[in-house]
Amino acid sequence: MNILVTGGAGYIGSITCVQLIAAGYRPVILDSLVNGKVAVLDRIEQISGQRPVFIEADVRDRARVVQVLREHAIDAVIHFAGLKAVGESVAQPVRYYDNNVQGSLVLIDAMREVGVKTLVFSSSATVYAETQDMPLHEGSPIGATSPYGRSKWMVEQILGDVAASDPSWSMTALRYFNPVGAHPSGLMGEDPQGIPNNLMPFIAQVAVGRRPSLRIFGRDYPTPDGTGVRDYIHVMDLADGHLAALRYAHGRAGHHVFNLGSGQGLSVLDMLAAFGQACGQTLPHEFAPRRAGDLAAFWADPALAEKVLGWRVQRSLQAMCTDTWHWQSNNPKGYDA
Ligand code: NAD
Ligand code: UFG
Repeated sequence: MNILVTGGAGYIGSITCVQLIAAGYRPVILDSLVNGKVAVLDRIEQISGQRPVFIEADVRDRARVVQVLREHAIDAVIHFAGLKAVGESVAQPVRYYDNNVQGSLVLIDAMREVGVKTLVFSSSATVYAETQDMPLHEGSPIGATSPYGRSKWMVEQILGDVAASDPSWSMTALRYFNPVGAHPSGLMGEDPQGIPNNLMPFIAQVAVGRRPSLRIFGRDYPTPDGTGVRDYIHVMDLADGHLAALRYAHGRAGHHVFNLGSGQGLSVLDMLAAFGQACGQTLPHEFAPRRAGDLAAFWADPALAEKVLGWRVQRSLQAMCTDTWHWQSNNPKGYDA
């Protein structure tokens, strides 16, 4: 099967391409490179022995997307392309809605024209409303608090409406919890631009000496150690979740929604300690005030994905840290080194 992977030059998309190739699929990457790296193509080839076709294009370029769907005889689409920085989305809402919502609309319309009817979409746990009622399951109340989160929820609703309008569509939204880790080869991983917003890449840059110390945002949350609790999922498990979703959804019409998470909550201090063990250092850190907009704790109920897709996480916290350290220490400056 030929799979169009939008955003396939990014962190999760590129590693999913490796897993797609290993499973016998042929990924075709379309990426604007707004946050992706062409160097991933060399790394995918190094790991899998196959170099995916790469098209540098914006998913909002309808004519180009139609052409790619036709030329490469695409059977299904995994749609990773999107902007993902929560804080930036608050400052630049129009840019976020245009890229994430309009981009998805153009893609769906191009698919309709060509008759490609299977779409797997990168959604996020950020669509859920703030609640103390854990774990979050697919029926938990929705209430995204940022333009980024709302853009994901808008697209999910569009997928539902399109699936309802025409029974030949198969639309799947995967709500990721907190993706971390790297390919175990150490050749591919997360390569954020500038100062990382997210915990794991920040810790990794402290470990490699690029940042002096981790600032822990908040120590007085109502959690066992007072720091924020999240559901971290190894990016390899996340990639495998896409393959499971693709196998399930292709040829099965309707609108499907699944959490992809581990079901386990871990604190900032848990993550710091585990990473310290993986890299053999005590990592410098200091406590700082809470970060605006952060929730105390949330984690997934991943039971639906296990029941329906036959998927659940396989990789441990230790693997998340060891693989990130392997990637970061081999590529201290990321793909540009
Ligand atoms: P990433 O930024 O590494 O990858 C996204 C890729 O999409 C980049 O290569 C970028 O160049 C490309 N892109 C963006 N807009 C595009 C457009 N209009 N046309 C073509 N290409 C475009 O991010 P990631 O962490 O790999 O995330 C992938 C997807 O998963 C995103 O949709 C993101 O919102 C979603 N997601 C990520 C997380 C996370 O914590 N990483 C959590 C939940 C959901
Ligand atoms: N944290 C720190 N110091 C840092 C960075 C983070 O203490 O330098 C803490 C945060 O306060 C939070 C935890 O580490 O308690 C995790 O923070 P991240 O920024 O790594 O992750 P978030 O849960 O805030 O958000 C991430 C993605 C969102 C996505 C969400 C749910 O950034 O896009 O997971 O999927 F929506």
